[in-house]
Formats: sequence, C-alpha cells, structure tokens
Amino acid sequence: MSVTTQACIFPFKFKSKKKRKESKSAPDLRNKSDSLTPVLDRASKSLPSPRSIPELYKEKEQNLKVFSLQELRDSTNGFSRLQKLGEGGFGSVYKGIIKPKNGKGSPILVAIKKLNPHSLQGHKQWLAEVQFLGVVNHPNLVKLLGYCSVDGERRIQRLLVYEYMPNRSLEDHLFNRALNPLPWITRLQIMLGAAQGLAYLHEGLEVQVIYRDFKSSNVLLDEDFKPKLSDFGLVIY
Ligand SMILES: Nc1ncnc2c1ncn2[C@@H]1O[C@H](COP(=O)(O)OP(=O)(O)OP(=O)(O)O)[C@@H](O)[C@H]1O
Ligand SMILES: [Mg+2]
Repeated sequence: MSVTTQACIFPFKFKSKKKRKESKSAPDLRNKSDSLTPVLDRASKSLPSPRSIPELYKEKEQNLKVFSLQELRDSTNGFSRLQKLGEGGFGSVYKGIIKPKNGKGSPILVAIKKLNPHSLQGHKQWLAEVQFLGVVNHPNLVKLLGYCSVDGERRIQRLLVYEYMPNRSLEDHLFNRALNPLPWITRLQIMLGAAQGLAYLHEGLEVQVIYRDFKSSNVLLDEDFKPKLSDFGLVIY
C-alpha cells in the first residue's frame, strides 16, 4: 500500500486560522447593516476552502524519495550495531551513507529510523511524520529525505530517512558527561532557534500545529550547533 492510499485511513481535517478567529470574535454585522451583506457574502465566497495535511501532501509527495529496504540495508551495513545512533520509543536510529544514483555526485550522510515491529502506534506515527514533514519546510525543522514501506507476509517494515545531524541531540550535550559542556551563547542560540521552529508550527503555516513532543532529545544539532526540531508523529492540527 502506498502512502497516498493509506492517507484515506488517516483523515486529518483542520480549520483555517482566519475561520477560527471569525467564529470566536467577529460581530454579526449583517444584523446591523443590510448594505454590508453582499460585500460579506462575496468575501466569504472567495475564501479558499481549507485543505488537510494529506491533501497538501498529495501535491508534494514527489519531493520525498522512496527507498528500497535493500538500499537502506546496504547504507547501514545491514543495520549494524556499530552504525546505531540511538534508540527511542519508535525504534532504532542508524547512521547511513546513501550513494548517488549512477555514481554522479558525492555520497550523503543520513539518519535512518527503523520502526520497532512491536510498536503498537508505529504505523500511525510513521504516516503522520511522512505526511507532515512532506509538506513543511523551515530551517529549524529536521528535513525528511524519504521513506521506506514494506508490507511483508509476517510483518511490516517502516523506515524514515532524515538528513544526518552531526552534533546529535541537545539531550546528549546536557546529560552525556563524555561531551564538553556547551557555552552559554550556544545554549542561547539553540533556545532561540528552537523557539523559531515552534513559532513556525504555531503561526507560520496554513495549518496551526501543536507539536506535543518538545524535549531535549528532539532538538537535533547540525554541524554549526543550529537546532532542528524532530519527531512529528504526535502532532495535531
Ligand atoms: N537526524 C538525526 N541525525 C543524527 N542523530 C539522530 C537523528 N535523529 C535521531 N538521532 C539520534 O537518535 C536518538 C534517538 O532518537 P529518537 O527520536 O528515536 O528517540 P528519542 O527522541 O530519544 O526518544 P522518543 O522516542 O521517546 O522521542 C536521538 O537522541 C539522537 O541522538
Ligand atoms: Mg526523537
């Protein structure tokens, strides 16, 4: 089953911010002045009808690459323990190298999250993350490069392929004593960047998003210690 066909079992709906504001606080002008009625009617007719995340995703799904399981196996040396970056509730995360097709260009480093087959909420969260990260774009949100989905006879395989974040997560720098403490200016920059990511989720999209998983292990750090929020399996719109 493709991500698009599965979208029909995951029907997100949302209201536009404009509509929500109107229903809460807009006074009923129609009762006060009949002359305004046609103007309001025209205005309300011209408002674009809100689209759900799966609908927006359909327009952009070609931006994500569909990887084969073999390709991801090869890139992680068979999901070797030596390539493991960490483990969370969804499953394990591995460092991988994706070779360019037809040998042109340089190989790219990726982080591959592999769903634990016993995870009960796994497929739902995987699908939410693919569709959500497939439509958003912000320097403080982690970039999803693609995914892999295989429905075997005995079990399903679900994987996510992200850009690799060389400085791991903020949690690692706060609690791992093997790493040097971060300078205060870097901490401040991380806080500001994370806040910009949250502001984008709250105000910068057509859809207003509640993240619900804001914690130091989900604040990933790039080569310049710029923060990117990750893990969108629990978002609600
Ligand atoms: N894109 C990435 N680049 C580099 N490392 C990553 C990336 N994504 C995740 N990691 C590493 O893998 C670890 C596990 O991540 P994961 O999101 O699976 O779990 P978590 O956030 O620690 O816990 P939870 O599942 O409870 O949210 C992270 O703490 C981080 O060190
Ligand atoms: Mg995480």
